[in-house]
Amino acid sequence: MNRVWDRFLRSYHWLQALLFVLLCVSGFAGDGQGLVHHAAGVAIAVLALWRVLWGFAGSDTARFSHFLPRVSTLRHYLRTGEYRGYGHNPLAAIMVLLMLALLVLQIGTGFFASELINMSTTVAFADRASDWHARLIGILLAATGAHVLAAITHELKGDRVIMAMLHGRQAKAPAGLCFQGVVRAFFLLAVSLVLVLLLVSALGQLDFQIWSRGTYGRAEA
Ligand code: HEM
Ligand code: HEM
Repeated sequence: MNRVWDRFLRSYHWLQALLFVLLCVSGFAGDGQGLVHHAAGVAIAVLALWRVLWGFAGSDTARFSHFLPRVSTLRHYLRTGEYRGYGHNPLAAIMVLLMLALLVLQIGTGFFASELINMSTTVAFADRASDWHARLIGILLAATGAHVLAAITHELKGDRVIMAMLHGRQAKAPAGLCFQGVVRAFFLLAVSLVLVLLLVSALGQLDFQIWSRGTYGRAEA
């Protein structure tokens, strides 16, 4: 069996799953404004940004251009269940993009709902972000449930997708794929960390009065 997922993508996936559980537990326990939720929230934001960058500059199979399916390929897969390629199948690819988009929205609304980070918008705007954060989690949990169920079903059918996410190899993968190394992975991780920290500090300072249409500063009602 040849390699299909690089070790950075696999580490990203399982670390993200762990942080997701931690965020759900701390959030539903009513500690969304607490330090654990914030630390895990910033960490998952860095990971999500890294995954987006890896989708453009990472290993062959991690690139969006590799797995974004054509409509005809998706239709054929939905009709027949057949896919001769490697990496994400066409339906899994759509699900991956959907989950990434939902994660970004969940993270974004979290930043705006935070009393520790967001000092720039009105209380009303932060409350709205908090409402969306609480609503979105239902959709994200449903998508994650479907994702895990689909993964288990494929695993039991013999596609070994979960094992591939663990050891990185897949029967259908051809030899000679290009995998990026540790320098690029950590450089993109450093870029993601700096960008998220800049966003956090900007949210503490910027004046969003124009588009939040109200008085600004979280202390003002
Ligand atoms: C025990 C729980 C989980 C299992 C067994 C699992 C399994 C998998 C598998 C097998 C794949 C590869 C799919 C394929 O071959 O096409 C995958 C990809 C993915 N999973 Fe999970 N997953 C779990 C939890 C999660 C959670 C909690 C999240 C986030 C909320 C998540 C987000 C993703 C994403 C974004 C990908 C795409 C990977 C990439 O290309 O970057 N997974 N997962
Ligand atoms: C995938 C990432 C995240 C998940 C799964 C998540 C999950 C949750 C959940 C389940 C809640 C409780 C919602 C409810 O009361 O029904 C919550 C609340 C909260 N989260 Fe997150 N969260 C995430 C990211 C973030 C981030 C990045 C931040 C900010 C750094 C954040 C800040 C907050 C805050 C401030 C609350 C409390 C809102 C309030 O009570 O007004 N979250 N989160």
